[in-house]
Amino acid sequence: MVELRRVEKRYGDGPLILDHIDLAAAPGDFVALIGPSGCGKSTLLKLIAGLSPVTHGELSVAGPDSGENAAELAYVFQEPTLLPWLTVAQNVELPLTLRAASAANREAAVTRALALVGLSSHATFFPRQLSGGQKMRVSIARALSLSPRLLLLDEPFGALDEMTRDRLNEELLAIRERQGWTAFFVTHSVAEAVFLANRVVIMAAHPGRIHEEIRIDLPYPRTPETRSSIAYQKLVAEISRTLRSVDSHGDISTQNSKPITQSAAPSASARST
Ligand SMILES: Nc1ncnc2c1ncn2[C@@H]1O[C@H](COP(=O)(O)OP(=O)(O)OP(=O)(O)O)[C@@H](O)[C@H]1O
Ligand SMILES: [Mg+2]
Repeated sequence: MVELRRVEKRYGDGPLILDHIDLAAAPGDFVALIGPSGCGKSTLLKLIAGLSPVTHGELSVAGPDSGENAAELAYVFQEPTLLPWLTVAQNVELPLTLRAASAANREAAVTRALALVGLSSHATFFPRQLSGGQKMRVSIARALSLSPRLLLLDEPFGALDEMTRDRLNEELLAIRERQGWTAFFVTHSVAEAVFLANRVVIMAAHPGRIHEEIRIDLPYPRTPETRSSIAYQKLVAEISRTLRSVDSHGDISTQNSKPITQSAAPSASARST
């Protein structure tokens, strides 16, 4: 469904950001990307989404039958990026409006997407009336309203407390059971990566590259009990260890590698209110 072969990425004539990325995802895969800050995880998502061109190598994104049935793709950004003057329902409807879907289709898709994320009763609220977790769910509903076959998520739950994050992880997997999309999910949380994914790709920095891929053979559906299983905890420990070794080989200072990702991102504009 998604295939990158020997992909390299530079922005302009800047340094090599991604080097020799070989990565393929089959339909239904849930691929978690984890690695030190600045190793190119967001860049990789942008390449897959076609938001930025590949410098070298090949990238293909296709539907199961490929060709004309190219995958419908949706992107969930780290910030919920909701329009404050639109209601929840109008925000979710926006991508459908931009695609000129009929009013009846739009309404049905919005109703379905809001039900999926458990926010049907908040359709007429404005973003300022929502909690952080609810805003994120609206953002996910907006992505799901397109019935995507490929979902790209860039640290969607990074700013949330652990309990809310755990619950949203479970909700996300439940939605996936019903919608069956393929996912690329960027996170700084090993626990989250192992809980969600069937494949965890560990990246290293300078230049950004794939260090190792680990298969997560825990059965779906995954539940709170999954987190207390020995198999899960072993995987979390193993991946954390690998990640620490990757981190100490990069020249990222440890002060910078805190998993709080709000940091200095100048694009984070949603904080002003
Ligand atoms: N539009 C751009 N122009 C130039 N350089 C960029 C651009 N976007 C990202 N970069 C550079 O590419 C590198 C990788 O950035 P990217 O955002 O992909 O990292 P990341 O792994 O997502 O990091 P984080 O975990 O902090 O979100 C960084 O060195 C960054 O400065
Ligand atoms: Mg990023």
